Amino acid sequence: MTVKILQFGTTGQLGVELLRQAPGHDVAVTALGRAEADLTDPAAAAAAVAAHRPDLVVIAAAHTAVDLAESERDLAFAINAEAPGAIAEAAAKVGAAVVNVSTDYVFDGAGGAPYAEDAATNPLGVYGASKLAGERAVAAANPRALSIRTSWVVSPHGRNFIRTMLRVAAAGNPLKVVDDQSGRPTSAADLAGFILSQAPALAAAPAGDPRFGVVHFANAGEVTWRGFAQAIFAEALGDAAPDVAATTTAEYVTPAKRPLRATMDLGRLERDFGVTPRDWRDALRDIVAELKSAP
Ligand SMILES: NC(=O)c1ccc[n+]([C@@H]2O[C@H](COP(=O)([O-])OP(=O)(O)OC[C@H]3O[C@@H](n4cnc5c(N)ncnc54)[C@H](OP(=O)(O)O)[C@@H]3O)[C@@H](O)[C@H]2O)c1
Repeated sequence: MTVKILQFGTTGQLGVELLRQAPGHDVAVTALGRAEADLTDPAAAAAAVAAHRPDLVVIAAAHTAVDLAESERDLAFAINAEAPGAIAEAAAKVGAAVVNVSTDYVFDGAGGAPYAEDAATNPLGVYGASKLAGERAVAAANPRALSIRTSWVVSPHGRNFIRTMLRVAAAGNPLKVVDDQSGRPTSAADLAGFILSQAPALAAAPAGDPRFGVVHFANAGEVTWRGFAQAIFAEALGDAAPDVAATTTAEYVTPAKRPLRATMDLGRLERDFGVTPRDWRDALRDIVAELKSAP
């Protein structure tokens, strides 16, 4: 049976990848961008769910500017927590399941990584706190909600670390990158593929199904931001890769505090979904290949 999906967010990394891959799955997607559904208006977003009566809602829109969120607390909570909660409630009323996307920044990264889904959360900043509130809001509003925590999302498009590093290197500026924060880079395409492949099962699963709740999805492996930058340059520029000096979180001051090691355990993904994500280096290879083939 074709799954009717209502997708919030069309222009972000995940939103674009969902739309690109949807034709390969048995789904019919209606996607609403900011112009059709602005998540600063949770009631309007909920009304869209009631009007479309989907089988599954996928929330791919979010306030993702980690530093800006520190000075936009109300906006971040409206978009990342109130709107997902309202959407999930409206979905419950029409019998739809919900996929919400969250972050490894719900953890403080101060020890204990890799973190399992039930590990204690302690976000260091507004962004992580708003996403954690979003997880709780969707779970409270809809027993058929899944929050997928992901990390370090990258793709050939949009705003992400790969594109930023290549732009900075092309400008010829010296490179200094934080070497004491580590995590798991995640391909937006891999995450989109996971969501779409689970859509039929999630749309059909009853409340209480073990797939609902919280699950971690990231590419396998772990690296520091500096190590990631070096791998990006090696893949994209080969022998012309620039040197990348190391800096520390203490030296590189940003408005938002970031966890040192919020690396997520991926065991539940394998146990409850039968999915083993590929290594981040393989995902990086595909992204760089696509960037190189772009006109
Ligand atoms: N990027 C990461 O490294 C990362 C890490 C962990 C978790 N995540 C989570 O993964 C998910 C996908 O992230 P992403 O990287 O694909 O995000 P992204 O590329 O930053 O895109 C954000 C999307 O949200 C939309 N949006 C923002 N404010 C909105 C509003 N008020 N109303 C409607 N739409 C709005 C944007 O639309 P406009 O184009 O109109 O602005 C855009 O489509 C998010 O839930 C994010 O929190 C991301």
